[in-house]
Amino acid sequence: MDSIDAFLNRLPVRLRSMHGYVPGLQKNDTEIIKLNSNENPYPPSDAVLKALGSLASGAMPLQKYPPPRSSGLRSALESRYSLPPGSVLCGNGSDEVLALLFRSLMDPGDSFVMPDPTYSLYPILADAVGVQSIAVPVDEALHIRFDALLTEANARGSKMIIMAMPNAPTGLYESTEQIETLIRSFAGWVVLDEAYAPFAENSFMHRAGTDFPNLICISTFSKAWSLAGMRIGWMAAHPELVQQIDKLRDSYNLSRAAQMAAEAAIADIAWQEENARRIKESREWLQKELSRLGFECLQSSANFVFARVPSGDPNQARSIFEFLEEKKILIRYFSAPRTAPYLRISIGTPDQMAAVVRGIDEFLKAAKSRL
Ligand SMILES: Cc1ncc(COP(=O)(O)O)c(C=O)c1O
Repeated sequence: MDSIDAFLNRLPVRLRSMHGYVPGLQKNDTEIIKLNSNENPYPPSDAVLKALGSLASGAMPLQKYPPPRSSGLRSALESRYSLPPGSVLCGNGSDEVLALLFRSLMDPGDSFVMPDPTYSLYPILADAVGVQSIAVPVDEALHIRFDALLTEANARGSKMIIMAMPNAPTGLYESTEQIETLIRSFAGWVVLDEAYAPFAENSFMHRAGTDFPNLICISTFSKAWSLAGMRIGWMAAHPELVQQIDKLRDSYNLSRAAQMAAEAAIADIAWQEENARRIKESREWLQKELSRLGFECLQSSANFVFARVPSGDPNQARSIFEFLEEKKILIRYFSAPRTAPYLRISIGTPDQMAAVVRGIDEFLKAAKSRL
């Protein structure tokens, strides 16, 4: 019988040559201040905990399959965003929804266009289905170049343009006029990944499939609803497109627990609004403090701040990242040339924000005394 190597050699080249996604470090040490995955620092609303309690008490039958289409959650999201019935599809995290889009909107050999940087999962999902990724660098100020995206997509005959809005890891929300012009001008699908939109002033969710037949908006319960551990995301699009994509979805892709938690969460609007207010307040505080320490902060519309270190030197950014890691404060450093002078810090509680500022202050003072 052949060895495992011989069997592995017969795997598709596409799989063997691709890299997997590397998530931010996940550690369960309770002493750690975890600001590296843009999670929400607060627990979910009491309504969510109560709904999950009813599951634990046996009031809901765990031995039975959950509703296959997550229909209650779909309707709740359609009402919340004033979308026509049939506009929403739910996924096991928005990552699953993204994977479904890469599988359903394109054939192997097709291409899609994205800004660089943006969410680094997109090219990995493309590799998995043999779709070519075309990255269009952002401008000097890290803003998306909409004209260049469109020119490139048209020149290559691409089927889809995708971006996170607010973008990641910059946190920048681009002008709504530019976004609208892109959607109107492109004869393919435009996907706006709105994972962080609840912390911004704008969203296109309510316009997906209605104002624009080619617009698909994606979002998640992981960030603004404090449910990253539950894995719930969704997309909004024209009902006829949703019907097509539904054919590829796993029949029971959301657990009963996930559906109950999300339905309770979406009903508690007051909790979500108050949570976003607190996060934005801490974000303004952190930006002010980092500016005082000599950082240059991009104007964040998300639950994280992307800030250029005082010297603009990538070595300083890496050293601050490592210094904080030793103090059990996890943030994110991206080594690609355009992003290497920056650090990304997720918004935590006021105490966590104070700890990160104290840590950076200590690093900068120690560096100064060594001069
Ligand atoms: C832009 C963006 N989209 C999607 C996701 C994934 O979210 P989910 O937890 O719903 O899979 C993330 C996670 O960090 C993200 O940054």
